[in-house]
Amino acid sequence: MDPVLSRQGPLIRILNFWRLSLRRPRSIGAVAPSSEALATAIAEQVDFDTPGVIVELGGGTGSITAALVERATDQQDIVVIEREKSLCALLSARYPGVRVVCGDAQYLGRLLRDENIVMVKAVVSGLPLLTMPGRARLKMIRQAFAALAPGGVFVQFTYGFAAPVPRSVAEHTGIVGRRTKWIVRNLPPAALWLYQRHGVPDATPLSAGEESSFPQ
Ligand SMILES: C[S@@+](CC[C@H](N)C(=O)[O-])C[C@H]1O[C@@H](n2cnc3c(N)ncnc32)[C@H](O)[C@@H]1O
Repeated sequence: MDPVLSRQGPLIRILNFWRLSLRRPRSIGAVAPSSEALATAIAEQVDFDTPGVIVELGGGTGSITAALVERATDQQDIVVIEREKSLCALLSARYPGVRVVCGDAQYLGRLLRDENIVMVKAVVSGLPLLTMPGRARLKMIRQAFAALAPGGVFVQFTYGFAAPVPRSVAEHTGIVGRRTKWIVRNLPPAALWLYQRHGVPDATPLSAGEESSFPQ
């Protein structure tokens, strides 16, 4: 564990987050780490009593990870995937019991295979889906649902009114989503969406326009 990183207080973490979000606004996609209220609401969507792994996408500085760690009986059941190397180091230092995987969520299937993960009960995403390139987003969603056990949930927060997964993409991948909650105690206020498998995915490829479309 890195002793300097693990001692970083919340203020330093927020400043580092701001610095990163100014440098890479589309990749970070937020002005501040998620609040405790949002992190709690996300963790409440997960059934901690059933067996299986919880995969967190885009762990950032670990706000949501904290709420998961607080509720999980075994921290090894939490796998956090983050693309930014400095944030991976921070996450590993803050949560030495959690499995932190430094990688791109669009290669989720391979990342999980490398970790020998077979049963995923929930995917909790902090990824900025609205600014993510359409093709990478589609790949990630497909792999997330391929990894999820029957009945598994995909939890996503977003800052606008629109669904974080475009309707055409949801229909194509055979998933259905609903907004479960608004969390006003967050900067900015956030909407929580829950996605689950609905039907059989459509085998025909999406057109280039649909793949890259922003949510309707
Ligand atoms: C909106 S921040 C959320 C951070 C944290 N989960 C929270 O709620 O405070 C998005 C995070 O996703 C990460 N990220 C963006 N694209 C990614 C990708 N393709 N694969 C993995 N992580 C990614 C960013 O580096 C950033 O840490």
